[in-house]
Amino acid sequence: MSTVDGAPQDRVPAAVLPILAAAGEHVPEVLGDVERALRTAAAPGTDPLDRAALDTVAAGGKRLRPLLAILVGGPAVADPDGPARAAVVRAGVAVELTHTATLLHDDVLDAGLLRRGRPTAFARDGRAAATCLGDVLFAAAFATLAGGGDARALRVLARASRELAQGELLQRADAWSTDVDEERYLLRCHLKTGALFEASARLGALAAGEEDEAFARFASAIGVAFQLFDDVLDVVAPPEQTGKPRGTDLLDGTVTLPMLVARERDPALRDLDVRTITTTEQAAEVCDRIAATGATEVTEERARALVADGVAALPAGLDEARRTALGLVARGVVDRRL
Ligand code: IPE
Ligand code: IPE
Ligand code: MG
Ligand code: MG
Repeated sequence: MSTVDGAPQDRVPAAVLPILAAAGEHVPEVLGDVERALRTAAAPGTDPLDRAALDTVAAGGKRLRPLLAILVGGPAVADPDGPARAAVVRAGVAVELTHTATLLHDDVLDAGLLRRGRPTAFARDGRAAATCLGDVLFAAAFATLAGGGDARALRVLARASRELAQGELLQRADAWSTDVDEERYLLRCHLKTGALFEASARLGALAAGEEDEAFARFASAIGVAFQLFDDVLDVVAPPEQTGKPRGTDLLDGTVTLPMLVARERDPALRDLDVRTITTTEQAAEVCDRIAATGATEVTEERARALVADGVAALPAGLDEARRTALGLVARGVVDRRL
């Protein structure tokens, strides 16, 4: 992922720059506020747990969910001293902390060894440490939102956190099974990924004092599309791009849409027991076979259709700056640039 030096958090992907330009000058500023507040919220003290939490939030990440909250917040969050600004910063911090917590727990559940090109907390410090660190970040997310005193915001995050857990459980329940239909797979993607995108948009709208339903539909759709692309990247993208080997999903028993579609097209894949894939070399071979069927293109098409539905759900009277910026985020998801 290419980044641009001198951006507020030194980590803004190049694809985010036009989004920032379209959304207004306040957006990099708010992202900078989120970045600073994120560190304080994750590590309020100096004990080893604080240090581990700080390391984890500082380790990278595109900050997509805070960006979504800020963009949905629109012109109301531009005033640096207004209540909407403080609320959207809390929202951005809370959703990024929640995201980071779920990645820590996800790496425990998936036995993920590499993330963002580095060993995961699970690989480095073990299951117990990674789980507890995730718990700490969840707690910090809720404490941050509680600072705003809006019970609705807390309920939005609580619901997303519950859905994330349901999504991970559904994925474990479906592990190694090829008897999963597209509807169930899409539900899993909504729970695992769409739900937190949706919560980010709802929190942005709440911060701005706006109706959140249409933004929620938009964000959920692009969140599911984002997961579909993540699942395509697991099949086709080189480790330099994803920070992990191809076929990681297959190795931990996660059967995704590319494999489900490919099984319909290639009898050898239909007869393959996913449990017999045990090495990265085997996984890469199966990935090549999946890609040869055109299943990744089919999955990308599904993702594009979801994004189009999401964009169509945006509120009718939305100001141009927000429509353009949110449209660019949606396009970034399907162009694989975010
Ligand atoms: C990764 O999300 C997990 C998925 C939902 C696929 P991101 O790609 O947003 O993770 P970071 O924070 O930028 O690493
Ligand atoms: C997304 O799913 C994880 C969460 C939403 C917690 P993945 O398991 O596909 O994410 P990666 O590929 O490990 O980043
Ligand atoms: Mg994972
Ligand atoms: Mg993945």
